[in-house]
This record gives sequence, C-alpha cells and structure tokens, in this order.
Amino acid sequence: MADMHKPALLLALLTALLTISCSDATATVRMQLTSTDAGRGLTRRELLQRMALHSKARAAQFHHSGSSASAQVAPGKGDPATEYRVKLAVGTPPQPMELTLDTGSDLIWTQCQPCLSCYDQALPYFDASRSSTFSLLPCGSSACQELPLYSCGTAQKTSWGNQTCVYTAWYGDKSISVGTLGVDKFTFAAGHAAMPDVTFGCGLLNNGIFTSNLTGTGLAGFGRGPLSLPSQLKVDNFSYCFTSITGSKPSPVLLGVPTNLYSSSARGAVVKTTPFIHYPANPTYYYLSLKGITVGSTRLPVPESTFALTKNGTGGTIIDSGTSVTTLPPHVYRLVRDAFVSQLKLKTTDDDDLLCFAVPKGAKPRVPKLMFHFEGATLDLPRENYVIDDEDEKGHKEMCIVIAEGGDEMTIIGNYQQQNMHILYDLAGNKLSFVPAHCDRV
Ligand SMILES: *[C@@H]1O[C@H](CO)[C@@H](O)[C@H](O)[C@H]1NC(C)=O
Ligand SMILES: *[C@@H]1O[C@H](CO)[C@@H](O)[C@H](O)[C@H]1NC(C)=O
Ligand SMILES: *[C@@H]1O[C@H](CO)[C@@H](O)[C@H](O)[C@H]1NC(C)=O
Ligand SMILES: *[C@@H]1O[C@H](CO)[C@@H](O)[C@H](O)[C@H]1NC(C)=O
Repeated sequence: MADMHKPALLLALLTALLTISCSDATATVRMQLTSTDAGRGLTRRELLQRMALHSKARAAQFHHSGSSASAQVAPGKGDPATEYRVKLAVGTPPQPMELTLDTGSDLIWTQCQPCLSCYDQALPYFDASRSSTFSLLPCGSSACQELPLYSCGTAQKTSWGNQTCVYTAWYGDKSISVGTLGVDKFTFAAGHAAMPDVTFGCGLLNNGIFTSNLTGTGLAGFGRGPLSLPSQLKVDNFSYCFTSITGSKPSPVLLGVPTNLYSSSARGAVVKTTPFIHYPANPTYYYLSLKGITVGSTRLPVPESTFALTKNGTGGTIIDSGTSVTTLPPHVYRLVRDAFVSQLKLKTTDDDDLLCFAVPKGAKPRVPKLMFHFEGATLDLPRENYVIDDEDEKGHKEMCIVIAEGGDEMTIIGNYQQQNMHILYDLAGNKLSFVPAHCDRV
C-alpha cells in the first residue's frame, strides 16, 4: 500500500497542556486537542457539507494507492476537514507545530524550510537548520525502509548530502507531501518533558487541497505502523475523547496513560470492547469487525460478510480519527438512506452530499436509532452523533443524517460518530474500548 495520508486543514486552536514522563524507551503523554473547525463561525450546514466532502475524498483515497491516487474534489470546494489537532514542539530550541491526529496513517510530518512549495500556515515553517538536535536519515536507514514510498535524495538545494531519505505521502484527493525524513526531539509541552529522536517527515513540497491559513502544519500519524507516534513512543495504548465538533472545548488525548474509562463515563454508561482485526498487508489501519447496522426497527438486510475484509484486501471496516463523517459502501449507504426515508416519512430535500429532510413547522420528528453492531459491542449512537438540525436560507427547518456514501467497499468510522465518547486503543491487548463520556472531564 502506498499513500496513507490526508489533508490537514483549518483553524488553529488551543493549548497543549500535558504532562509527560519518560523512561528509556517509553513515555506517557497527556495532550489536548481542539476540533479544527471550532469557532470558525460556520453554520452547521456549511460545516456538515464540508465534512461530507472531506469524508468522500478520504474514502476515495483508500480505494486507490500509490501514484495513481485520485478522487473527486471539485476545485474551490476543497476546503474540507473537521479534524482534531494536537499542539507540540520539535527541535532544540523547540519550534511549535499543530498536527492533525490521524489514526488512519502512520507518518508524522510537518512543513519545513526550505519550502519548495508549501501552503500557508499560521505558524512559521519548521527550520531544521535552527535545531541543534535535528539530523537527516539516510535512505539506508530502517525508518526509511518502513515508508511505503521513498527514494534517495541528492538535496542539491541544501547542504544536505547524498543519500538522504526522501518520502512521498499521497492523498486520494491529489494532495501530496514530499520531503526528507529526519529525527529530532519532540516536546509535548513547552519547557517540559520531551522525547529524543522521533522520526518525522520534513515536508518541502506540500500540495493539493491545502488552501488557507487556517491549516495546521502537518499530520501526526497514530496508525498501527512503526513510524506512528504511539509506535515510536512505544506505548501500550492511547485514548482520546472528542468534545463536540461544533463546540470549543479542548479534547484530551492520552498516550500510555493508565486510563480509567469509568471515571469520566456518562451516568449508567457501559464500557464496550471489540477486537482489532490484524491485516498484515495493511499494517496501518485499525480494522474492526463490523457485523451489521440497525436503523430504527430495521436491521439492514445485508450479510455480515458485507463489512469484512476480502482476501485481496478490499473492503473491511476501520476506525479513523482523521475522517470526519462515517462512510459506507454505496449499496449499504442506499439501504441506510431508504430505511431513514421510509421510517421518518418526511420529504427529503435536495442535497448533493447529505441525506436531509424538511421538518414541518412545529414538528419534532423522532429520529430512528442508528446502531453499529461490532463483534462483542454495539455502538448505539446518541442523536447528536448522527443528526444535525439546521435551517435553510428561507428559514425552513431541516434535519440531516450525518453519514456519507463512500467511494468503495470500505466502511470508515469517522470522528463525527466518535464525539463525546472516551475511546481506548489497547495496542497491547489488540482491542478497542469505548464508552459515552463527558470529554471535558477526562
Ligand atoms: C554525492 O555522491 C557523488 C557520487 O557518489 C559524489 O561525487 C559527490 O561528491 C557527493 N556529494 C555530496 C554533497 O556528498
Ligand atoms: C495568509 O496570511 C498571510 C499573512 O497573514 C497573508 O499574506 C496571506 O494572503 C494569507 N493567505 C491566505 C490564503 O489567506
Ligand atoms: C496503558 O499503558 C500503560 C503503559 O504504557 C499502562 O500502564 C496502563 O495500565 C495501560 N492502560 C490500560 C487501560 O490498559
Ligand atoms: C477482491 O475480492 C472481491 C470479493 O472477494 C471481489 O469482488 C473484487 O473484485 C476483488 N478485487 C480485486 C481488486 O481483485
């Protein structure tokens, strides 16, 4: 598999408050994230459309790989992404950066000087020449060999020598990041504990749908592969708890911190656990065993195998913090859509990307429940995790279902569906646990 990356976009945020303690090889880290669209003053509808668009772009990327990556993102509309971003610093002295937390990819990268082609960002580009602890990795290094796509650079424009490792990270929406692979010290809170020798990409050419100053500086890969942040910190687990995307409260992410899922759980909530499925041909994704979907009173008439990985590696179900809206294989999406339409008995409104209904004045329709049945754990979504209420320009009330049609047979559980839940990735135990929670109290 090539690729694994995806665009980071949008607004900046908050404070990284965290504590870290390091021993020789392991670390525990507490950081805070913010939703990248928080406070942008978008209407919920605008937010939603952008999320759906983004999810589609992302879904398409999984479908293709390597240099043939492509997806449909209309020019001018490519300002997507509702993502959760973490603040940290790299180098000595530390230079700040803001990276999108992405469990759907491994590589950590940030835009770097000397930029050949970078998008605008609010923070200065990382300047490796100003860091006394930075060093480049040669293409013979094991970290370089872990990359899905790399080459040996000559780096003529810089004083960097021959044989530097050059990575290429592709996005399905034609975005790309190319740069050199290096190591440097990562500091998780200014002036506090740090982790030496973290491998990351210094992005010199970053192009695609990155468009505005509202973007972060790069990505923090939280996937299962060896180059991801959790893998490099050698933690046994990590967890996050996303506060509402439309709110402005910071969200915590904990790496290797003993997590008491009960302490912050909502009253009466039960912790549920489902195994990860290991798929050696794609070591990055957190595959889950999804068995079925229920809309209201109807379990969708699809065999369990619908959501399973095929032998050739197509399909499957993953959980991804970097995708906003859950996407379903097209034929499954149509069944979900039909189920909502027949049970809600409301007029659908025209929308390219979303399933929306006109809500008559004064009506308070009961929305059918939406449940995902995983092996050993049912995710019974609260209303706010799949329904959005809005008004159109003329003041007509609308209600939209926040689920999108994917570009292929893969099912991606996106972050909109993960809000207000404490989610633990137990890497040592090879399982995922989740519980409804008050994320601002974790
Ligand atoms: C790069 O390698 C070539 C051939 O191995 C050598 O002639 C050249 O001096 C090297 N350049 C640098 C900057 O190391
Ligand atoms: C980004 O910000 C800089 C300086 O604040 C400004 O010159 C530039 O036009 C902005 N770019 C975009 C795309 O908004
Ligand atoms: C998470 O991992 C750390 C060590 O990295 C361990 O001390 C802790 O108990 C683990 N927490 C859970 C909930 O498994
Ligand atoms: C992969 O397998 C599925 C079913 O087993 C099949 O429908 C699909 O065409 C195969 N895809 C490729 C690329 O071979």
